Amino acid sequence: MNYIEPLYRPPSEARSLILQVTNGCSWNRCTFCEMYTQPQKRFHLKPHAAIEGELAQVAASGAAVRRVFLADGDAMTLSTRRLRAILESIRRHLPDVQRVASYCLPRNLKSKTVEELEVLRELGLSLYYVGCESGDDLVLDRVRKGETFESSLAALRKIKSAGSKSSVMILNGMGGRMYSEQHALNSARLMNAGQPDYLSTLVVSFPLGKERYEKGFGDEFKELDEPGLFREMQLLLNNLDLEQTIFRSDHASNYLVLRGTLGRDKQKLLNIVNTAVTNPDALPLRQEWQRGL
Ligand SMILES: C[S@@+](CC[C@H](N)C(=O)[O-])C[C@H]1O[C@@H](n2cnc3c(N)ncnc32)[C@H](O)[C@@H]1O
Ligand code: SF4
Repeated sequence: MNYIEPLYRPPSEARSLILQVTNGCSWNRCTFCEMYTQPQKRFHLKPHAAIEGELAQVAASGAAVRRVFLADGDAMTLSTRRLRAILESIRRHLPDVQRVASYCLPRNLKSKTVEELEVLRELGLSLYYVGCESGDDLVLDRVRKGETFESSLAALRKIKSAGSKSSVMILNGMGGRMYSEQHALNSARLMNAGQPDYLSTLVVSFPLGKERYEKGFGDEFKELDEPGLFREMQLLLNNLDLEQTIFRSDHASNYLVLRGTLGRDKQKLLNIVNTAVTNPDALPLRQEWQRGL
């Protein structure tokens, strides 16, 4: 594959074929995200002939491909016509593929109808990773996500109406100390309204420094320490009212690893988070050097 590195994908796509149909992110303004800021990651679409060529090569290699992930950061910015062509090519070259997934900004779906998403689902595209990050409009504004509670909810509802699945990312610590409570409460409210199929929480991290992030908050951002992050998780979990959502807090950025199904495992997960708040030494927390993005 002719990848333009670095290449990111959700942890659950570790065994998927990563098909880079776009390079970078067309938005690229979120102050916490440095993933596509290097010069070679400037946003552009990959020509269809190049995608076809890569698929033909994979098919010729005889590799058994069951899952495909469309990279990079917002492949869903592509038109429905272009996405259809890509999915048809995947079908033609790799007939054993059962699931295609993609990152998806809420605004990527604004001009796509439920019927269009249904057509894409029938062609295999059935899982969207939506970086909601927060349900709090003030926090979303401070980090320049370009989305709101309502725009995020509209996207989650559209995905559900089309019979596809959503996997949401929420960022623990995103509002700092000052906005921790409203970030947790409004994120829970967004998840309760949207009922995603999967929910994962990551800890907001600053591998290249905090300056850009802090600037967005004026002088209001004070990073949460570990106990603060756990208290925020406690508030989030306490307020989640999910019917059937697979919950994962196992990304490498997390200090505390949590896995379960909500609502069934809510109390079990809360017991662990409560221990992290009151007696963290009793838990096998990730050390700083074990963390990453
Ligand atoms: C590669 S991005 C693509 C997501 C997609 N563009 C969207 O916004 O929905 C995947 C996710 O990585 C996470 N991420 C990015 N930068 C991060 C950071 N500095 N700390 C923690 N998580 C981060 C965010 O949750 C983001 O949604
Ligand atoms: S979080 Fe998503 S939308 Fe924001 S800059 Fe990163 S890839 Fe782009």
